[in-house]
Amino acid sequence: MDIVLSGIRSTGNLHLGNYFGALKNFIKMQHENQCYFFIADFHSLTTHPTPADLHSNVRQVLAEYLAAGLDPEVATLYIQSDVPEIAELYLLLNMNAYIGELERTTTFKDKVRKQPENVNAGLLTYPVLMAADIIIHKATKVPVGKDQEQNLEMARKFAKRFNRMYNVSFFPEPQPYNFGQKLVKIPGLDGSGKMGKSEGNAINLSDTEEVIRKKVMRAVTDSGPTKMNQTKPEPIQNLFTLMEVVSSKDTVEYYNEKYNQCAIRYGDMKKQLAADINTFISPIREKIIEIYNDTSYLHKVAELGAQKARENASKTLKEVREIIGFKKF
Ligand code: TYM
Repeated sequence: MDIVLSGIRSTGNLHLGNYFGALKNFIKMQHENQCYFFIADFHSLTTHPTPADLHSNVRQVLAEYLAAGLDPEVATLYIQSDVPEIAELYLLLNMNAYIGELERTTTFKDKVRKQPENVNAGLLTYPVLMAADIIIHKATKVPVGKDQEQNLEMARKFAKRFNRMYNVSFFPEPQPYNFGQKLVKIPGLDGSGKMGKSEGNAINLSDTEEVIRKKVMRAVTDSGPTKMNQTKPEPIQNLFTLMEVVSSKDTVEYYNEKYNQCAIRYGDMKKQLAADINTFISPIREKIIEIYNDTSYLHKVAELGAQKARENASKTLKEVREIIGFKKF
């Protein structure tokens, strides 16, 4: 049995990238493994949310996790800030994390470019907090999308460094995971790059049919193929990639053939894609609304998760303190 862990920042709604990059894999694994899923609200502070936004975002993400199929009875589903042991492990790991390696992280460099007015120390040490999240439960498998590969590499580095420094084999090395396949990158609708909250190109699990249709119809395309069987340029390949995750094989094949024969009508393809996304999302969307409004259920889930997560985290932390040399007088 593996110890499986994954998380999501509480900075907005879950989108198709989150679902197909990470969440779907957790849901498949939750019954056979010891699973931990959490909402990274400490991480979300790097963008300075207001107290009201912080709280409502966590509530939304919790409702969305549950609506998408996470079972809080079998998996441990918790909110990061309910487990202060994570913050302490983060502090301890920070002592062995070096400025140079943190500055070289791609996600940090991206943030520096995108938000030069707010390059805070939390952003710099983001991979250290992520490592603490993972290794506090001694997780071995971490279902994530392609964008988190480097952060996972850092987590392995910090785990190994701790073991080496204290001459122990205490922390296992966490591996990014996607059922033996490559990690996925779900593209956005703007013609390039990945689907993301901050990129403004995402389809959310809570989007209405009308919103989905508008977003898909606006997706970037070109004037169509001119040669039989030509390679698809990125914006077109992106539409096909999205179709591959939500539509039937026959549908994907049909549009592939049309493309290869230079007979594709992007308008038709988009209508089909929007309809298939809506078919996938609509049962989840309905559940999100139901669960979001059920305060007593959300309270129960969060309490149960916090208790289970803390129990395990405090055990790890107690051992870490002993290894490091903290002793009672
Ligand atoms: P976040 O909140 O950006 O995304 C949550 C998960 O969704 C995946 N994902 C994608 N996968 C494929 N294609 C996409 N377009 C796409 N967009 C997002 C992400 O890879 C991730 O798995 N730092 C993390 C949260 C975190 C975490 C952790 C994750 C904090 N601590 C410990 C795992 C383990 C983040 O910002 O993910």
